[in-house]
Amino acid sequence: MNFTVFDTPNAAEIYAAELIAAQVQLQPESVIGWATGGTMLGLYDALRRMDVSFKQTRGFNLDEYVGLGPDHPQSYHHYMRNHFFDHIDIAADHIHLPSGLGNPQESAAQYERLLAQYGPIDLQLLGIGQNGHIGFNEPGAAFDGGTQVTALSDTTIAANSRFFDDKTQVPKDAVTMGIGAILKARKIVLLACGSVKADAVKAMAEGPIGRFCPASSLRGHPNVAVVLDQAAAAHLSL
Ligand code: GLP
Repeated sequence: MNFTVFDTPNAAEIYAAELIAAQVQLQPESVIGWATGGTMLGLYDALRRMDVSFKQTRGFNLDEYVGLGPDHPQSYHHYMRNHFFDHIDIAADHIHLPSGLGNPQESAAQYERLLAQYGPIDLQLLGIGQNGHIGFNEPGAAFDGGTQVTALSDTTIAANSRFFDDKTQVPKDAVTMGIGAILKARKIVLLACGSVKADAVKAMAEGPIGRFCPASSLRGHPNVAVVLDQAAAAHLSL
């Protein structure tokens, strides 16, 4: 893992955006794995201001909540359109997210087929959950897992309730790309900011490797850029 630590979240977001921009400029037909969450808002804001064409790229998002349709304000379909896709020139039929509607098992299987058709991902963007999750692969997820339906942990439901009216509104399940597909990506960029992520970053980078910390799986990948602000890096013995 390659660590770059910045004084501020904004500097970290801009640097991570620059890594993605460089990938797309070098290889305009890149397959990019997109991520959601509060952490990525600044990155998308920076990236859409950069002079980069996404016309030939193809995008695969990590995950979607089960039960939320694409127009639900808290769905990741809506998040991506609102914060990024509506502001860039990517072709509509090159945008892929797991469906939150219909049978979740079928949605997972269909996504897995699409990934097999267009993958592997050239650059996978990741955030990290406070419990070390990547995508919605919660502690216990297999490191070689494919796209699957996953029950959200209490920690994740509590953390994500800030985006909903209250905790009871947070879906209990999600469809997520598996750790297996994430590890197949040629390059991974993980962005984490804030003291709330310091323990998860430490566990990912320096704790034991195992299913109890899904992000620790990334230590088996040859090309991971970890981009942090000082608060998220605070517990590392770098
Ligand atoms: C969410 C997403 C993850 C994201 C993580 C952190 O639940 N499924 O892909 O990395 O949790 O989110 P945030 O950036 O809001 O802390």
